[in-house]
Amino acid sequence: MPTKIAIFASGDGTNAQALIDAASSGALGDSEIALILSDRPDAGVLDRAESAGIEVLFVDPTSYSGRSAYGEALAKHLKERSIELVCLAGFMRILAANFIKAYEGRILNVHPALLPSFPGARAVRDALEWGTKITGATVHFADEKADHGPIIFQESVEILTGDTEETLHERIKEVEHRLYPIAVRAVVDGKVRVEGRQVTVDEEART
Ligand code: GAR
Repeated sequence: MPTKIAIFASGDGTNAQALIDAASSGALGDSEIALILSDRPDAGVLDRAESAGIEVLFVDPTSYSGRSAYGEALAKHLKERSIELVCLAGFMRILAANFIKAYEGRILNVHPALLPSFPGARAVRDALEWGTKITGATVHFADEKADHGPIIFQESVEILTGDTEETLHERIKEVEHRLYPIAVRAVVDGKVRVEGRQVTVDEEART
């Protein structure tokens, strides 16, 4: 049985698109993207999902009493669809501990910085404003703290003179779009081991 994947996204969804494209070319191993879920009704990712013929779900956070009730609802939607793996792709919401627990070790995230530097929703701007010369992209397991869990892959991106948040984010996204599908496939294929914060990916699954 293919591993059923749900993607959570709040925005344009270029990372979701990279995963959709990888899935359709067979580059996500024995898996199926079965659901794209958003916390925003106007998220561009929903159009991408519809074009790809994937079920879309808008789950309105304002309809729930708090983070925990929202987390419970998300987990219920996923269980109803037998989802086994969750890919956060620009999902700009902190997930409740109950949701993380329900999918412990089965939630991946992509972040536009070299964690633990610059966590949060403004990572690209923060790196630019700090004046770092190098930033990058991180793919990691999600845990109960935002942008915190064990790291699967990281790759650096040089900050160039004259870079704006947009030009820099564009180059970081190119890296994200390449790394994220490789990480998802490695997890689907069972080539990833986690011990505490240490993640080992079998050599043949690293490219
Ligand atoms: C991506 O760069 C992703 O790393 C970032 O949001 C962007 C979404 O772009 N996520 C975070 O900042 C999480 N802390 P996309 O909608 O085009 O995929």
